[in-house]
Amino acid sequence: MIRRSCVIGTGSALPERRVTNEELARTVDTSDEWIRERTGIAARHIAGEGETTATLAADAARKALDTAGLTAADISLIVLATATPDQTFPSSASKVQDLLGATNAYAFDVGAVCSGFLYAIATADALLKTPAGAAAGGRHRALVIGAETFSRILDWDDRGTCVLFGDGAGAMILEARDFPANQADTAPGIIASRLHTEGAHNELLYVDGGPSTTGTVGKLRMKGREVFRHAVTNLADVLREVMDEAGIAPAALDWVVPHQANARILDATAKKLGLPPEKVVKTVQDHANTSAASVPLAYDVAVRDGRIQPGQLVMLEAMGGGFTWGACLLRS
Ligand code: ACO
Repeated sequence: MIRRSCVIGTGSALPERRVTNEELARTVDTSDEWIRERTGIAARHIAGEGETTATLAADAARKALDTAGLTAADISLIVLATATPDQTFPSSASKVQDLLGATNAYAFDVGAVCSGFLYAIATADALLKTPAGAAAGGRHRALVIGAETFSRILDWDDRGTCVLFGDGAGAMILEARDFPANQADTAPGIIASRLHTEGAHNELLYVDGGPSTTGTVGKLRMKGREVFRHAVTNLADVLREVMDEAGIAPAALDWVVPHQANARILDATAKKLGLPPEKVVKTVQDHANTSAASVPLAYDVAVRDGRIQPGQLVMLEAMGGGFTWGACLLRS
């Protein structure tokens, strides 16, 4: 027998307020043309009063529960990836557990910035396969969420960063299922994951505050050009690693759902691997960079518009502050 964590539902949520590049250019020294040319971004959603990381996460989770035909009580584990929690503690995952009424679930946050969802899904996958990790409620189902409100940590006077990010949330429900070993090539679920960290690059992408240093929340700082260079190399390397582990070539992939940082990073990574651009799911034009939310958000968009179909091979990948990066191959 093989045990796989299968994706049985997805959902996403965006703040009500959509801000176009033109609208942004009224208050920031920038232009629609500059933003589109350098990043592919046309608009982003910005959280308003009452909209927080946890409320967006809970909205995305409710939609995922709906598509899976489950209630919150059916969930045994909640892993929430975020770099913009509602509070320093308790975790935003605890708040989501309460908002949903998922009383059978144990819940915690994972912090790996833009790669957070890759870290969260790998963690949930591993836990679902252990008797102790899957034990709560005996249900073996995880709610894996990426949710962010980066608008609250942006320096709106820094045009080099504030135009790049947006707010949102995406959620996936994983269920551990057993399959006969001879079905390994066709069984749905997570096939392989790889994660990496290189802490030496802190100064290229970071927040200049924190509870244990300045006692403030801080603002996002980034050396964009250098991040770009590392992103393309690291992502191509980790994608190759996961494909090698699974014994597949890029041509076998039906879809790549990348972290939506920048259309140029997506294009450059696809080119490096010889992946046709039409196999890459792109939502950066509508959402900008939503950090840990971007992969599950893009995945949900592609499921709902009919691109991702059951039985297809899908690669998730992301890179972010830390640096952290990772990839995950699954059959939908
Ligand atoms: N509007 C207009 N002009 C701008 C803006 C703006 N919003 N931002 C910067 N500029 C100007 C700069 O002042 C500079 O002007 P100068 O030449 O007169 O000095 C010029 O544009 C070029 O600035 P650079 O920062 O060198 O621009 P670059 O071509 O590197 O593009 C960008 C910047 C888009 C951030 C790019 O470096 C990039 O995409 N980096 C990847 C970073 C990223 O996506 N990070 C996301 C988080 S990490 C992750 O998720 C992978």
